[in-house]
Amino acid sequence: MSERIPGFSTLAIHAGAQPDPTTGARATPIYQTTSFVFEDVDHAASLFGLQTFGNIYTRIGNPTTAVLEERVAALEGGTAGLAVASGHAAQVIAFHALMTPGDEFVASRKLYGGSINQFNHAFKNFGWNVVWADPDDISTFERAITPKTKAIFIESIANPGGVITDIEAIAAIAKKAGVPLIVDNTLATPYLCQPINHGADIVINSLTKFLGGHGNSIGGMITDAGTFNWSREGRYPMLSQPRPEYNGIVLHETFGNFAFAIACRVLSLRDMGPALSPFNSFLFLTGIETLPLRMQRHCDNALAVAEWLSKRPEVAWVSYPGLPGDKYHQLAKKYVPKGAGAVFTLGLKGGYDAGVKLVSNVQLFSHLANIGDTRSLIIHPASTTHKQLSDAQKVQSGAGPDVIRLSIGIEDVADIIGDLEQALTAA
Ligand SMILES: Cc1ncc(COP(=O)(O)O)c(C=O)c1O
Repeated sequence: MSERIPGFSTLAIHAGAQPDPTTGARATPIYQTTSFVFEDVDHAASLFGLQTFGNIYTRIGNPTTAVLEERVAALEGGTAGLAVASGHAAQVIAFHALMTPGDEFVASRKLYGGSINQFNHAFKNFGWNVVWADPDDISTFERAITPKTKAIFIESIANPGGVITDIEAIAAIAKKAGVPLIVDNTLATPYLCQPINHGADIVINSLTKFLGGHGNSIGGMITDAGTFNWSREGRYPMLSQPRPEYNGIVLHETFGNFAFAIACRVLSLRDMGPALSPFNSFLFLTGIETLPLRMQRHCDNALAVAEWLSKRPEVAWVSYPGLPGDKYHQLAKKYVPKGAGAVFTLGLKGGYDAGVKLVSNVQLFSHLANIGDTRSLIIHPASTTHKQLSDAQKVQSGAGPDVIRLSIGIEDVADIIGDLEQALTAA
């Protein structure tokens, strides 16, 4: 065996996968089964007691999904991972392993609108309280920390505004406070940015977007960097206290640098239940094989479209960190040097009405609520994804009334620009 450390494109195709030991199948098979036969009673007991790793029931783990988990964890540079039914489920499961009622976490204001809703409303029902901070003023993160803070949450490239977050500066604040930094890396993917290399302790991905990449399945992923000391000061009881569910086992003591991924699986996913379908795992594995090729094409097309739009008379501004004049360009050069992603916003001089006309006139672009498809996508966030937010929250999260969000696909760039040109002219 060669001692070479495989490159990113090699890992995207091979990490976690072996030819099927029974049939020789080269593509990872879809193990479409709920449950797995035990060898004998002792084997069953050791699986249930966490003394042996193995398959029990697909809500807790599945061999197709296990390949996906190993692959994404390898691409992110983590020790272990857990795939679940959606990006949102990944957030619930990760926080469930960290928080107890009355705890707080600090989150960047510049987040996907659905995450802002989840944190403001659904999480409140668990007694988990979000405190918002401004990624453009890093000191607000430090000021938001209290003795109840259990984590800091940011997005590497924030949806929808083309914001690049200064991961290292916020990681330093998290380290000082003794709390893990969780980075949602959905818009960047590990091809563009590996938050763990910049100090993140936990990475979240919505697999639904660029990792899957074809707009055909919903899924989410938690990657454990294996870097955080969960036992310090006993602040994370799920990880540092004896678990009554498993005969008093202490997860951090027993599982060391992948204890967080284990806690997410055997405590949070087992009991909360948002398991990923093995069929979706198969689709994600297939998508990830071409991630580096697709992601580079997405970025190259997005830069060309952003440049073209910034010269159009109908366009008031373009917020794409890949553009040299952009406010986040220096951060983009540091954190996403291969390209600033494919999702960005623009403001139309005609405001809300011009936005509605543009989305009504596109032909190649699809008007829908998703990003990270091979196809080019368009949406008016103020009337859709960010509609539930107050006007102030809309503006704070980069989704004011004049804003259009584009997710640039991998079609021929001339066709993408041609469609925008005809739609702007018609509007
Ligand atoms: C940045 C980001 N994080 C998380 C999510 C949630 O992912 P999912 O739709 O897979 O639950 C989304 C969805 O758009 C997103 O854009």
